[in-house]
Amino acid sequence: MTNIAFIGAGNMNSAIISGLIKTGYDANKVMVSNPSPQKRQALAKELHIQETSDNLVATKFADFIVLGVKPHLIADVCQQISNEIDVTNKCFISVAAGCSIDTIEKALNQPCSVIRTMPNTPSQLGLGVSGIFSSEKTNQQQRELAEQLMSSVGITKWLDNEGEIDHIIAISGSGPAYFFLFMEAMEKQALSLGFSAQESRELVQQTALGAAQMVVENNISISQLRENVTSKGGTTQAALSTFIDGGLEQLVTKAMNSALHRAKEMAQNNS
Ligand SMILES: NC(=O)c1ccc[n+]([C@@H]2O[C@H](COP(=O)([O-])OP(=O)(O)OC[C@H]3O[C@@H](n4cnc5c(N)ncnc54)[C@H](OP(=O)(O)O)[C@@H]3O)[C@@H](O)[C@H]2O)c1
Repeated sequence: MTNIAFIGAGNMNSAIISGLIKTGYDANKVMVSNPSPQKRQALAKELHIQETSDNLVATKFADFIVLGVKPHLIADVCQQISNEIDVTNKCFISVAAGCSIDTIEKALNQPCSVIRTMPNTPSQLGLGVSGIFSSEKTNQQQRELAEQLMSSVGITKWLDNEGEIDHIIAISGSGPAYFFLFMEAMEKQALSLGFSAQESRELVQQTALGAAQMVVENNISISQLRENVTSKGGTTQAALSTFIDGGLEQLVTKAMNSALHRAKEMAQNNS
């Protein structure tokens, strides 16, 4: 079993570490590094992994290093590591949005390999979606480990080129918030119809959960599912016509293109 180091003990790395240990990965083979003690110590206590405040200690320990700091810190963290230690043949996997493989390789400036992944927030529940792209320098074993790591927090989608990471950001990366916004709007309307805050939330969350579960469990297209619950001249059709006439589809396209545009901008700012 390969030693794995996690740089950063924030939300995403914590989710991946928890998922990995739950799948039976040997906790002795995992180390987390984080400057402030609370989060790393809590992880170490709960999951029996090793912890340190020193990224160099963590990187020396491992052959596979997960970069889970904020995107604007990735290059600095990589430079600090490669200035001090030999990272030849190690594999770095970054979960940072908007930070390219080229940026990471330049910062590391040694013959190592880099994998980029774009997970999303539901990874914290094991219900995530992660796009993964690996540079040609990675080997089969490293790709398999990346797959093992990210599939411990949800489903994975391997990408043919790095540009597709931005597409993943626009779909599943930012996607949970699109549904939150829609649920918020429905919740507000439920409140205005006289339901209590708790009732409004329960009505909306259970409806969203039920709808998502129907998509998961029925092997028919989403549009067929929608048609199946839309009686001609009925209430659902009245509501859906309002969405369609209001330009919902065009708005979704525009919103996802905005996310895509922002992802490209962020990649440029971090290069
Ligand atoms: N959260 C998500 O749903 C999500 C989804 C997709 C991708 N991501 C990516 O995941 C990365 C982390 O996001 P996050 O939400 O997990 O952020 P976060 O909760 O703020 O975690 C970042 C962690 O990095 C630590 N850190 C700061 N400087 C460090 C250094 N020099 N060395 C080691 N650790 C350092 C921070 O420690 P202190 O608190 O002690 O400063 C913090 O615990 C980002 O690049 C983000 O783009 C996150």
